Formats: sequence, C-alpha cells, structure tokens
Amino acid sequence: MTKTAEPKKQPKIVVSGVQPSGRSHIGNYAGSYRNWLKLQDDPAYRCFFFIADYHSITEDYNPAAKRQQVFDLAADLLALGLDPEKCTLFVQSDVPEHTELGWIFNTVTPVSFLERMTQFKDKSGRQQENINMGLFDYPVLMSADILIYKGGFVPVGRDQTQHVELTRDIAHFFNNKFGNVFPEAKPLYTETPKLRSLTNPLKKMSKSLGDRSLIALTDEPDVIYDKIKSAVTESTGILSLSEEELEHKMTLHAEAHEDDPALRGVAGVWNLLTLLRTFGSAEEADRILAAQPIKYAELKRLVATRIAEHFADFRERRKKLVTKPKKVWEILEAGAKEARSVAKKTMTEVRERIGIR
Ligand code: TRP
Repeated sequence: MTKTAEPKKQPKIVVSGVQPSGRSHIGNYAGSYRNWLKLQDDPAYRCFFFIADYHSITEDYNPAAKRQQVFDLAADLLALGLDPEKCTLFVQSDVPEHTELGWIFNTVTPVSFLERMTQFKDKSGRQQENINMGLFDYPVLMSADILIYKGGFVPVGRDQTQHVELTRDIAHFFNNKFGNVFPEAKPLYTETPKLRSLTNPLKKMSKSLGDRSLIALTDEPDVIYDKIKSAVTESTGILSLSEEELEHKMTLHAEAHEDDPALRGVAGVWNLLTLLRTFGSAEEADRILAAQPIKYAELKRLVATRIAEHFADFRERRKKLVTKPKKVWEILEAGAKEARSVAKKTMTEVRERIGIR
C-alpha cells in the first residue's frame, strides 16, 4: 500500500498573553477571552495562550498575591472553555526561553524605538516612583513572547498596536543581521464592543476604577444586579446624543467633557444598551431604543439578567474547578512542556545564527 502524502497545510501560529492582575471582568471577556475561544476552535490556527506573569511584575504588586492571581486567571480561562486539547495554555515564567530571547532582542532594538512607546509613557506617568527597566523593556519581552513560537497572528486590543509593530521591526532587524528566522507578526483585531465603567461611563471598564465600576466574571447574580442598578444613567429617558456623536465629542475634547454629568449619563445609557447587545441580543437593544422614553429600572433589570445568564455555566464550571487546584496546575505544567518544546527549537536556531555556540 502506497501512502500518498497529503500536502499538509501549515496552521497559522497565533500567540497571545494576558497579565494576571486581579479579577477578570466582562470587559476582558468581550475584549479578548471571547476571541481566544473562537480561535482555538478554528483548525486553521495553532494557538499559544499564556499568562504573562513576567510582564505583570513591572507594575507595583504584592508578591504574596501573585501566585493566586495566576491561578485565578487560569481558572477563569479554563472555566470559560479554553481547552488544553485545542490550544497550548501556560504560564510565561514556566518557559524561560521567553526571557532568553528577550535578551537577544535587546541587542537589536534601538533605545529610541522604546522611548516612543505610548504605553510606557502612560505607565511611567502613573507610577513615577517605580519607572523600572522592566517597564521600559516590556515591549521587547512581548516581541519575544510572540516570536519564540514564530507567531504570525496576535489577537490583541488596539492599545497593543504599537507593540505588535515593534515586534515586526525587531524581526526585521534580527533577520537582516542574522538571516531569516522570524515571520512578520500581524495583529488580529476583531470588532469588540467598548464596555464602559458603570460608575464613570466616560471611561473604559477597568479594574483601576474600582470593583463597583465593573462586573467580574465570578460576580453572582445578586451582585450583578446590585452593581447594574447603581450604574450611572440620566433622568429624562430620552437619548439626546447618538453613540457616534458621543464618541466624537469624547475623541475631540475628552478633557473638557470628563466631568460633564449630562454626557456621563448619556454614556451610561449607551453602555447599558451595549451590554444588552453583547450579552442579550441586538433585537432586545433595538426594541428598547425604539420605545423612548426608556424606563431605566426595567432596562437595568433586563441587562443584569442577561449578564447573569450568560455566565451561569461559567460560574458552575469555575466553582468545580477551584475545588481541584492540582488539576489546574497540571494543565498549566503540561502546557508549558508543550510550549517549551517549540521554544527550545527556536532558541537552538537563534543561538546558532548569532554565534553563541
Ligand atoms: N501586553 C499585553 C497586554 O497587556 C499582554 C501581552 C504580553 C501579550 N505578551 C504578549 C499579548 C504577547 C499578545 C502577545 O494586553
């Protein structure tokens, strides 16, 4: 019997990471986790997803809490449905090749490229007492995270665009100097809804604005209801601005409008409608929009119900999972082993090219 070798289609390599730094919320879910779940199910892609603990220590943090944060994030991702049979899930620091390649990339990265990273500027403004070298070098480690697997596709939010561009620059610099090793990494954006803070809807939902501003994935229905109930809205029931008009005002004059209570109220209502569209349905949201004045108490009840329903299975699965912490750590260890076998191959190639051994 002759075997005709099927021309095997190379899967596209997807790499993405998320920092462990507090409870995951529905903004994280809508912005990235949801895309990861889709990508792992697409046979065209081979996915590496990791918990970026080395990145997370560039900001002020409590060492005693870090391991728990890593565990919690892993439990979130697994309970949401990331499946170790379909993707490689691991902890960054379990694969030391990331930092090893990061060091080599440091030697081909111009300092001036890092000086213009907007995230570095933002973060060093926020933590002036702790502008450490790791914060500055963060994007180089991120490039290594991606290229150690020869990743071509990077599902990230738009805030990471500059970092993925740098990854391409670093690959070019390396390839020009040492020969063609690394591919061109491209960001993989998917349209994601912008979820706003419940307490200040002119800002993005984020853990930095406090627990009442967000819905955590593990929030129980009564907590969800309570938070949504006190979410900022306005008093007329009529939307005086379209969502585009609101966006327009905020992009043009964010500072001037930051404390404008009327605008805040309108943004809060649009946020409730976005939540309904995301976790309920577009029809439901359209129906409410068509029947102004909107009764906010009713809308809020509906939004809270839909969010609670959407994560009901997740909450059950997560509760079960955390009773078996050993199983979670084993999954991460097996993932690291898988990732390392790929990472080591890249490092062998890299070391040879750069003349180290
Ligand atoms: N910087 C990313 C963020 O904060 C996290 C991250 C670290 C990452 N390494 C990565 C994302 C590699 C994609 C690929 O969102």
